[in-house]
Amino acid sequence: SPLHPFLNKLPKAEHHVHLEGALSVPLLFELASRNNIALPKDDEVFASQETLSSRYKRFTSLDDFLHYYYIGMSVLIHPGDFEALAWDYFQRASADGVHHAEVFFDPQAHTSRGVPYSTILSGFNAARSRAQTELGISTELICCFLRHLPVSDALKTFDDADVQASFADGHIKGIGLDSSELEYPPHLFVELFEKAGRQGLRRTAHCGEEGPASYIASGIELLGIERVDHGRALGDDQDLLRQVAASGTMLTLCPISNVVLKGVSSIKDLPIRKFLDAGVNFSINSDDPVYFGGYILDNYCAVHEAFDLSIAEWTQICRAGIEGSWCGDARKSEML
Ligand code: ADE
Ligand code: ZN
Repeated sequence: SPLHPFLNKLPKAEHHVHLEGALSVPLLFELASRNNIALPKDDEVFASQETLSSRYKRFTSLDDFLHYYYIGMSVLIHPGDFEALAWDYFQRASADGVHHAEVFFDPQAHTSRGVPYSTILSGFNAARSRAQTELGISTELICCFLRHLPVSDALKTFDDADVQASFADGHIKGIGLDSSELEYPPHLFVELFEKAGRQGLRRTAHCGEEGPASYIASGIELLGIERVDHGRALGDDQDLLRQVAASGTMLTLCPISNVVLKGVSSIKDLPIRKFLDAGVNFSINSDDPVYFGGYILDNYCAVHEAFDLSIAEWTQICRAGIEGSWCGDARKSEML
């Protein structure tokens, strides 16, 4: 796209990226071998890096992707594994013009395999320090809870002493809610989000990715979320759309993800023009860049191809993204 250099240079904030979704296929195979993790032998997809990479291009749904996503992350064992993963992402994000990244991770998917929370956090924090000093990008961690596991598991994880300590010492900025959506509506997690709110944590949740607009409404009303991850289904409810525009609630859209997971057949089918016209705040993000074959700049370029936005519109999208970030005001001023 002719705007590519301009889009690359624009100071961007990324709000929706799962660090486990940035696990490259070469690193996955390297860690499986080094950590002695057996990949499923009954699935020929894991026969080689090539067969696995080509499977990533044929996801049929969110759940089909999640199956491979959870197997992939099972190779992460040591702090250095988590550090390498996050460092890969931060370098790549920086090259795409990201100045501030708020990144998700799924502690339950690791602690359930016997990996201590402190291992995950020390690896990620090492990469965050390097990102700050070597790349000049600021980062925040958002601790996500898995909606396909029992609510009691999320509550137990939330109350764990190491997790509580990471909230208290500011290493974790907020909580999120992810994984399989349709069967696990927001109302199930009211208690978790109330506890997080009482502790002063910021709150977001995946809503309206595969689920309907009503899940976005209940995320906002029942969970007190100040951001909606994806929120693609907002385009289906005009009243809710007006309400979200008026409140300034930000959607963290992931255009390439929605196409790869078959939520829409092309980027043109996303309600991005509708959101712009109605004044809905949104950021554009990569979600799981390795699995979906696109980092943040690829997503910007794909949206530009589909909607031919003006330079003023792009500038405004990036400003709104920085203003809606969960960093301090001083950092925001630096970036604006
Ligand atoms: N976990 C990682 N990526 C996700 C997505 N796009 N939706 C829900 N859960 C996820
Ligand atoms: Zn996501």
